[in-house]
Amino acid sequence: MNVDNSALTARIETLKREKRAVILAHYYTTPEVQAVADFLGDSLALAVEAQSVDADIILFAGVHFMAETAKVLCPDKKVLIPCPEAGCSLAESCDAAAFAAFKAQYPGHTVVSYVNTTVGVKALTDICCTSSNALKVVESIPAEQPIIFAPDRNLGSYVRKLTGRENMVLWDGACHVHEEFSLEKLLRLKREHPAAKTVVHPECRAYIIEAADFVGSTAAILDYCGRSDAEEFIVVTESGILAEMKRRYPAKRFIPAPPDDESCGCNDCRYMKMVTLENIVACLENEAPGIELDEATRRAAERSIRNMIAIR
Ligand code: 13P
Repeated sequence: MNVDNSALTARIETLKREKRAVILAHYYTTPEVQAVADFLGDSLALAVEAQSVDADIILFAGVHFMAETAKVLCPDKKVLIPCPEAGCSLAESCDAAAFAAFKAQYPGHTVVSYVNTTVGVKALTDICCTSSNALKVVESIPAEQPIIFAPDRNLGSYVRKLTGRENMVLWDGACHVHEEFSLEKLLRLKREHPAAKTVVHPECRAYIIEAADFVGSTAAILDYCGRSDAEEFIVVTESGILAEMKRRYPAKRFIPAPPDDESCGCNDCRYMKMVTLENIVACLENEAPGIELDEATRRAAERSIRNMIAIR
């Protein structure tokens, strides 16, 4: 860590103590941001942690929908987001008013939405899910009951294939990172590293998922790499996970799969990388920006998030 980063890190630790603040961070943030986190996790683990945090302030080092989820679960706590512009292409692909109109076309359907949605969409949802528990959530709904699944068409198609459920209508959204992986380059990497296991996030396109040895959420991929006898892994998900992989399994080798256009750096989520040590310091000092929610919307969203946590 360079001198500037260690001064910023020390300042963050002091502010956390003074203000009784905790930092929750997603694995996709940068390694230096992960290093100041009190809790590091995937989307599901972060939502579960948020509901029981013992602190006055939660600073969410992640994207906007994650901080909103924490505020829904902890309305009495101050929930801060160092970079409110850090959005999510999936959440942005599903506007609440457009989703309400879509839902009206399918009366009687149970609505399952990925947590990568705005609080307005969660308020229109029966059960939220993450990539960790999407399959369990769908399996918890009686087979004859039709479902709307939003907003990720790739995760939705994957769950539909695993469950064989034809009665699932999908919203047409996608993650800008996971959609960009190149099959041709992935197959070349697999030929170059024949002993490597290929691990894939279910937000990837179906033809990338077909090439996987293991498909799972960020946390499930991390666990698999520990359990597997393999020494090498081709990693087909956001590059932030590599820091935790190397920390947990220093003797193993992790090879990031390239996107189609390698000049775009698109296996990095540009939104997650907007969280920096500098904006964390400013956010803790100012106790702003923070998340504020309309109470009726919050309550409706809370029901769908708690339904998800119950199925974990
Ligand atoms: P998980 O944390 O559930 O793996 O999903 C990460 C994410 O938000 C991808 O868009």
